[in-house]
Amino acid sequence: MFDLRSDTVTKPSKDIISSALTAELGDDEYSEDKTVNDLQEYCAALLGFEAGLFVSSGLQGNQISLLIHNEPGNEVITLHDSHIKNYEHGAASFLSRIQFRDVEHKDGVPDLNNLELILKKSKVHKPLIKCLTLENTHLSSGGSIVPYFEIDKINQFAKENNLYVHIDGARIWHAIIEDPANQNYGEVCDSLTFCFSKGLGAPIGSMLLGNKEFISKAREYRKILGGGMRQVGVIAAMARKALDGREELLNDHTKASNVYLSLESELSKSHLISKITYKGTNMIFLEINTDFNPLIFINELYNNSIHAGLINEKTVRLVFHKDISIEDLEEIKKQIVHSSSKF
Ligand SMILES: Cc1ncc(COP(=O)(O)O)c(C=O)c1O
Repeated sequence: MFDLRSDTVTKPSKDIISSALTAELGDDEYSEDKTVNDLQEYCAALLGFEAGLFVSSGLQGNQISLLIHNEPGNEVITLHDSHIKNYEHGAASFLSRIQFRDVEHKDGVPDLNNLELILKKSKVHKPLIKCLTLENTHLSSGGSIVPYFEIDKINQFAKENNLYVHIDGARIWHAIIEDPANQNYGEVCDSLTFCFSKGLGAPIGSMLLGNKEFISKAREYRKILGGGMRQVGVIAAMARKALDGREELLNDHTKASNVYLSLESELSKSHLISKITYKGTNMIFLEINTDFNPLIFINELYNNSIHAGLINEKTVRLVFHKDISIEDLEEIKKQIVHSSSKF
């Protein structure tokens, strides 16, 4: 079975698991776990922030940021199809008690005119807006990279309007690997979360980054949310090992682009698929014609050894990752074409 549902399905390699065995440990509740401390400092320095906090998941990092940047009743500007709004089990309303306001966007880049309008409208009667969230890479538009210069522009606008900017950078390394000259994210946002378990191959863990004051508050919220951990260096060591292999993400982009280029013309002839999208990272989206039920296609793929995911009511997602080899690609293409030809 080729599992293409997500890049979260990867299993840690022997090298990654072995790194846990020699990790220097301590009680992280007292900030005494050297492996965790080193990882936090390393990640903060890599991305140009003052400090970092190892958290259990991307969701935990995102939600802690919302808790810090907002007060109950505030409105948070986000993309209508962002992960933080749509795929976090309603955590933002449950924990921060905020509501979201959608900004128009193209491939994850918010429209500045629309942003201006939202802020103008918010002056009277409307909730206070103190925070804007971005997502890089942007999952719902197909894993598209939000260019660094666009983030910089949005952040400058945000600062002129007293807004905090949080970046859900679950897959930030997919963006950085394509644009390595621009990784100083501390310059263009107030906080950022990235995941060690999406594509990089670690089993658990995410990093939350910000300034020292932000991270010290984040430590308190992490505790409140039950995310305080003890000898967690065993996990942090695996996260570091996975991060050290980040160059390999480029292979995943190559695999996705290879499959896309081979199948684009073939699949666009199919009655089943109305659109095939590849946005330059590790995902391919197949939009299913409204006449068909995507679940039946997913089932057919499954019967032909392709485990695909559904990203919304009509879009099937194929995600390429380190546990899919270049040698697997011919068989994957053959089975996708075969499955789609049944409709
Ligand atoms: C864009 C994005 N943000 C945040 C998350 C949440 O990460 P986690 O599953 O570690 O909570 C995900 C998970 O897939 C994601 O794709």
